[in-house]
Amino acid sequence: MESITIREVQPEDLNEVARVNELAFNSDVEGQLIKLLHARGKAIISLAAMSEGRIVGHILFSPVSFSPPQPGIRALGLAPLAVLPEYQNQGIGTLLSHEGLRLCRSGGWQVVVVLGHPDYYPRFGFQPASVFGLGNEYGADEAFMAIELQPGILDCLAAVACYCSEFKEIGA
Ligand SMILES: CC(C)(COP(=O)(O)OP(=O)(O)OC[C@H]1O[C@@H](n2cnc3c(N)ncnc32)[C@H](O)[C@@H]1OP(=O)(O)O)[C@@H](O)C(=O)NCCC(=O)NCCS
Repeated sequence: MESITIREVQPEDLNEVARVNELAFNSDVEGQLIKLLHARGKAIISLAAMSEGRIVGHILFSPVSFSPPQPGIRALGLAPLAVLPEYQNQGIGTLLSHEGLRLCRSGGWQVVVVLGHPDYYPRFGFQPASVFGLGNEYGADEAFMAIELQPGILDCLAAVACYCSEFKEIGA
């Protein structure tokens, strides 16, 4: 693999980030969502994977709330994660996920949820969210996962995790 570096996304990167997502997902919904989250200050962590000055991968974390509210829990949702098709399966998604989760931890976030491939995210420590009594608004089962960055924080929880309103607004 060529040398990959990870850095924070800047406003001037957003068109390139949207393009990476469009090519990875074959859809422009993710790019619109990313731009809206950035515009509204909800892109809490947004990282680009760089190869030779080009953005080849991207990951974003945005706030998640709970129903019923859990004011003691600071949670983020990982979405989206995308790697350019020609750069996939070279460890770039793994680098982005590890660095993103490291920044979540150091930022004092206690929980991260993800709705994604059940074969991919467990390698980072995600478990089915149902293990924690945590539901989702999408009717997903094992594809909805969570990781406790503060062990035990989800003990005895019975709640639904809600991504921020921009996801519904964009139709993501
Ligand atoms: C999913 C994705 C982000 C992974 O990034 P990546 O850089 O290709 O992955 P890595 O090189 O870090 O890891 C490779 C592993 O991911 C697995 N993987 C790749 N795509 C996968 C998929 N769609 N479902 C499940 N596992 C997948 C590979 O099988 C490989 O597994 P192995 O290590 O056991 O052999 C990337 O393939 C992508 O952008 N896909 C299209 C968009 C997408 O589906 N995003 C995630 C939404 S949840």
